Amino acid sequence: MKLFAGNSNRHLAERICKYIDIPLGNANVRRFADQEVFVEILENVRGEDCYVLQSTAYPANDHLMELLIMIDALRRASARRITAVIPYFGYARQDRKPGPRTPISAKLVANMITTAGADRVLTLDLHAAQIQGFFDIPTDNLFAVPVLARDIKENYNTENTMVVSPDVGGVIRARALAKRIDSLLSIVDKRRDKPGESEVMNVIGDVSGKDCLLIDDIIDSGGTLCNAAEALLNSGATSVTAYITHGVLSGGAVARIASSKLKELVITDSIQPTAAIETAHNIRVVSIADLVGEAVKRTSLEASVSSLFD
Ligand code: R5P
Repeated sequence: MKLFAGNSNRHLAERICKYIDIPLGNANVRRFADQEVFVEILENVRGEDCYVLQSTAYPANDHLMELLIMIDALRRASARRITAVIPYFGYARQDRKPGPRTPISAKLVANMITTAGADRVLTLDLHAAQIQGFFDIPTDNLFAVPVLARDIKENYNTENTMVVSPDVGGVIRARALAKRIDSLLSIVDKRRDKPGESEVMNVIGDVSGKDCLLIDDIIDSGGTLCNAAEALLNSGATSVTAYITHGVLSGGAVARIASSKLKELVITDSIQPTAAIETAHNIRVVSIADLVGEAVKRTSLEASVSSLFD
């Protein structure tokens, strides 16, 4: 097997290779003067089981093109099987038509990856589980919950905790975490009037005197999280900590988190953290390298991936 990486998340690719104990594949992924992407695979891949690691995070379109072109290069170089390893699948929030004459971009991106020549997809905490069905090739959707639960047990006393979903859509994820750390569950009922804005309506469940652990798949502007944290504190919560898989953190999100009442925000390295994230006083990054590395290894050995979550 061979694992190659685009430019989105080389640190994670290196950690995954270290876990599997293979060298990172030698590839040149660069730009021409006009910013077109150019890829050269610098080693023989004929008949090999190849993995391409790329998160389609900011700049999403550039990283998506790198992924597509790397898959094409491997296919034309006669790789036996190509698995797109996409820890953060961008465009996932465009998974349905929010209004007339709007696209379903998540499906379009899934089609593009398949058409480029991927045989399989390995991804993590898809925004909506049904996006798995947008791919007509085998797709494994890993869950960060075991990694997050381990970190919670190592760093927090879970005796007085309440796991909280910041919206109704995240209840299944929150329930999975609550079960793992043996905690109660409550929900923040969120209404969003305009895209990019969020408004907390009310807290379902008694959070007074509780140390709340908010869990979500994505933090982007930070609006959902900060509003939910505020609602919980107004409802009598003692403290609010957040565990979120994908730290998109666009615009002024890092500053917003820094000045919020959050005790701590824990994200994973599904998206390569910026310097601002790494130096923020209340943001911590946990790695999903071993989880993804194990899933890659098992895929290569044709072993069960779902049993990773038993
Ligand atoms: C929404 O359904 C997602 O699960 C996240 O809650 C949302 O994308 C977070 O976005 P923001 O940080 O911009 O509120």
